[in-house]
Amino acid sequence: MNKLFAAVATLVVLSFVVGSAEARRVPPGTDADIAERIRPHGQVCLVGEECGEGVMAPMAAGEPRSGQQIYDRFCAACHTTGAAGAPVTGRADDWDARLDQGMDTLWDHTLNGIGAMPPKGTCMDCSDEELQASLDYMLDALD
Ligand code: HEC
Repeated sequence: MNKLFAAVATLVVLSFVVGSAEARRVPPGTDADIAERIRPHGQVCLVGEECGEGVMAPMAAGEPRSGQQIYDRFCAACHTTGAAGAPVTGRADDWDARLDQGMDTLWDHTLNGIGAMPPKGTCMDCSDEELQASLDYMLDALD
């Protein structure tokens, strides 16, 4: 116990000595130079705050993402290229037979996957509402 106390006390004294030595040293440059040097690399901007330039605004919690946002981020990887045999968005030939299955089946396969189509199209944190919107967005491209 005494040894531990001595070790902690030594650390406290040491950091004080080092700290005051630091404080006596005057850093080079003007205040503006210094501010620029120690500027944080990132900035946090909270929901509802005015964000500075280059700061990514967070998505408000609970606010559903649009069908296009989900599509671009998750579905597009396979469905714009036809990767792994995915029906290509907007290409009617790829969709005719699938549409004939009915919307319930398309929805079921969006949710649970089929063949190389992964469940929820890999958007595991998607709500049903967001997934449905992405499916609608994909099918709207056929009009
Ligand atoms: C990893 C690639 C991949 C991703 C990501 C993906 N899909 Fe698919 N999708 C496929 C493939 C492959 C098929 C064809 C599966 C089959 O019929 O065997 C398919 C088929 C489908 C079908 C038709 C199902 C049917 O019954 O004919 C729908 C609807 C669909 N995807 C919706 C989506 C949506 C919505 C997303 C995004 C949320 C998505 N997919 C993301 C690969 C993907």
